[in-house]
Amino acid sequence: MSIEALARPDVVAMKAYSSARKEAPGEGVLLNANEAPWSLLRGSDWEARLNRYPDPQPQKLVDRLAGLYGVPAEQVLVTRGSDEGIDLLTRVFCRAGQDAVLHCPPTFGMYRIAAQTQGAELVAVPRKAEDGFRLDGQALLDTLWANRRVRLVFLTSPNNPTGDVIEPAYLEELLEQTRDRAVVVVDEAYAEFCAHPSASALLPRFENLVVLRTLSKAWAAAGLRCGVVLARPALIALLQRVIAPYPLASPVIALALRMLEDDVLERQQELLRQVAVNKLALLRVLEGRRGLVSIIPGEANFVLVRTDLADALLAFCASRGVILRGFPSDPLLRGHIRITVGSADDIDSLARVLDEWEKLA
Ligand SMILES: Cc1ncc(COP(=O)(O)O)c(C=O)c1O
Repeated sequence: MSIEALARPDVVAMKAYSSARKEAPGEGVLLNANEAPWSLLRGSDWEARLNRYPDPQPQKLVDRLAGLYGVPAEQVLVTRGSDEGIDLLTRVFCRAGQDAVLHCPPTFGMYRIAAQTQGAELVAVPRKAEDGFRLDGQALLDTLWANRRVRLVFLTSPNNPTGDVIEPAYLEELLEQTRDRAVVVVDEAYAEFCAHPSASALLPRFENLVVLRTLSKAWAAAGLRCGVVLARPALIALLQRVIAPYPLASPVIALALRMLEDDVLERQQELLRQVAVNKLALLRVLEGRRGLVSIIPGEANFVLVRTDLADALLAFCASRGVILRGFPSDPLLRGHIRITVGSADDIDSLARVLDEWEKLA
């Protein structure tokens, strides 16, 4: 079965918008896009060309990202953060009122938002709270067989906010079982923080696999809004039908290319080493604290703690300028706080606030 058979028939039938920059290269006497004849800014290359629409998928950036993630360039789509990838996938594969999105809460909240925005049913297979929020693999497979409307399965590895990774053997089984029925998305936003291989190695075998990567976390560039969808070319082509004509702004393209140069790569490796060291320091700071019931360290750049006093602790920390993440409206995460691994100074600040908090008891 082709991937088109899983997509919305109206998207498959739709003729894609052809932007001026797609139809003709951005060189020569350019009178085809109603642009101004010159830029009002001087300086860098992109400033001098700001009057021109950017390349929708700059080949140089696509090639660099393909090299970084070890896939052919035809398997790469660059997006405005992985948030955009999640949105595109939901719009392409889910018919409003007919198809469903499956997710495994507690997990990243944008899968729900994308499903609800699209009018798709949201099917939840909750993680096992009693088992450190592990994925309930069997329940997921059972749900898929019971609910034929599921077209998209969102998995996150490492998961946010529980930090656990998906087992490769399980992923393969899931991909096998969903081959003609659903697209499995493995969101690897935090993959660089752990040593596990990327699911992208399975792309040659599975047409229904999508891997999401981002420069927001381990590349320290959340402000850039640059995400990457990795998938087989037929699936990428479907996403291309609904993506905005120019998803990446010129300064974003220039900065993303800069990010991927060798000297920045070295700094990125150093950042990853530091985050690993700081994570151990953070865990030491948290150990044995008043009211702390458990700590889930996970494999990403954050830890999840359970405490009897979540609301009071969050408010106390915030009053001292240390902002942690609570989940007041999520019943699965009641009593939990997520703490990002910050700099050594950030961890010292947190330690001081926690000392103060304990003295008040
Ligand atoms: C699992 C997960 N996926 C995706 C994102 C969003 O990434 P981006 O900044 O690339 O949109 C986040 C952000 O927190 C996340 O936790």
